Amino acid sequence: MGSPDWPQGLRIRSAPGTTLVLGSCFWVAVLDGNVVGIVAARAHEEDNTVELLRMSVDSRFRGKGIAKALGRKVLEFAVVHNYSAVVLGTTAVKVAAHKLYESLGFRHMGSSDHYVLPGMTLSLAERLFFQVRYHRYRLQLREE
Ligand SMILES: CC(C)(COP(=O)(O)OP(=O)(O)OC[C@H]1O[C@@H](n2cnc3c(N)ncnc32)[C@H](O)[C@@H]1OP(=O)(O)O)[C@@H](O)C(=O)NCCC(=O)NCCS
Repeated sequence: MGSPDWPQGLRIRSAPGTTLVLGSCFWVAVLDGNVVGIVAARAHEEDNTVELLRMSVDSRFRGKGIAKALGRKVLEFAVVHNYSAVVLGTTAVKVAAHKLYESLGFRHMGSSDHYVLPGMTLSLAERLFFQVRYHRYRLQLREE
């Protein structure tokens, strides 16, 4: 078997006491005793999907496969609990997040320029100078 494509010794642990409702969880990536990344999953029972959210890796540890390991944990969680797809939305401008989701097998489902961030007032100035593009991704695990 080949060696994993993330740092040796990396552990992905579910954070104790963070299961808010059935089907939701929060994980931390731990390397040499330090938390170096986080990710969360939230279940949407109405359409049998899991939403991946809060993906972030400490800037000093990026480019080592840690986000990929965290993303795979969410996919594993969705498979084990019989959800049919994993979905996510992102306003990330940088290429890293998009490459990450593509490399995990997500499909880009479209984007919208009319996303309103919390706290935005939709004033004329905001509409002219502060457009946020919101991208939706989906990874289908099985047909319904
Ligand atoms: C996006 C982020 C989580 C990626 O974390 P990471 O641990 O560096 O990512 P990985 O090393 O696991 O890389 C995963 C894939 O993305 C690609 N990738 C990562 N950073 C990249 C970059 N800067 N440019 C191009 N590709 C990149 C890798 O090549 C890899 O693809 P591969 O498996 O095909 O080689 C990290 O940059 C981050 O925390 N950014 C700020 C927060 C953020 O944008 N979160 C996502 C919000 S939705």
